[in-house]
Amino acid sequence: MKIILLGAPGVGKGTQAKLLSKKYHIPHLSTGEILRDFVANSRSRLAHDTKETIDQGRLVGDDLIIQIIQDRIQQDDCKQGFILDGFPRTLVQAKMLDELIYKQHRDVILVINIDVSMEDIVKRISGRFSCRKCGKVYNHYLLPPTIQGICNECGSTDFIKREDDNEEVIRNRVAVYKEYTAPVLEYYRTKANFYNIDGRGDVNQIADKINLQVLRHQNIKEAAKEM
Ligand code: AP5
Ligand code: MG
Repeated sequence: MKIILLGAPGVGKGTQAKLLSKKYHIPHLSTGEILRDFVANSRSRLAHDTKETIDQGRLVGDDLIIQIIQDRIQQDDCKQGFILDGFPRTLVQAKMLDELIYKQHRDVILVINIDVSMEDIVKRISGRFSCRKCGKVYNHYLLPPTIQGICNECGSTDFIKREDDNEEVIRNRVAVYKEYTAPVLEYYRTKANFYNIDGRGDVNQIADKINLQVLRHQNIKEAAKEM
């Protein structure tokens, strides 16, 4: 099963992708996380420039991102499927992905857009922090750890905030989303494999809505095979 999670910054793509990955045993491919790992572990000029781009809330070039995704989805763990989070973000990326999925995988990708109001997005991003050790994501206002200051997953007390989660950069990220990624949403909206999810409510409620669409998509695919 191949799934794209679309949505503006902070709608909960990463949170939902992790749940889907656990449930369906397929990898979660977040281009944001891949780029942050690259920046943290490389001293190259490209890593330096990429960090600058992310810190300003701009988009990294299509060529680099497409290369990353092309290489990643050809790896063995993606044979049964994958969840894309943060990709595609431009029309060029979306069209390239279409080609790759049809040509190499002969498959249809399920596209789920998570829709959340701007007010909730600001709350979700400004309150976000995560465990430095295991990466578990929390929110000061909405999803704090069960015991304050201690990670639910690994017990660590060391937390970090993303450098692009400050007010000015959030504004840029939302503007970039409206200019470059909203057209991607329109590109998919008219296709049969597109579903819009109301992203209000708690994490489990949204996960249930997404799972319903995943099951529906699987049933449609099974029925098509039998015809
Ligand atoms: P990326 O890391 O993809 O950032 P983003 O799209 O801005 O999305 P976020 O990660 O901020 O939000 P999310 O939707 O994952 O929300 P989350 O689950 O964390 O990209 C970062 C940068 O990398 C880009 O700006 C760009 O520079 C570059 N980049 C990446 N991909 C690229 C591409 N394809 N092309 C070019 N450049 C690229 O949730 C947010 C918060 O809300 C958390 O605190 C969470 O706990 C909380 N929360 C989640 N769900 C709920 C809920 N239902 N109720 C209450 N709280 C919730
Ligand atoms: Mg994310």
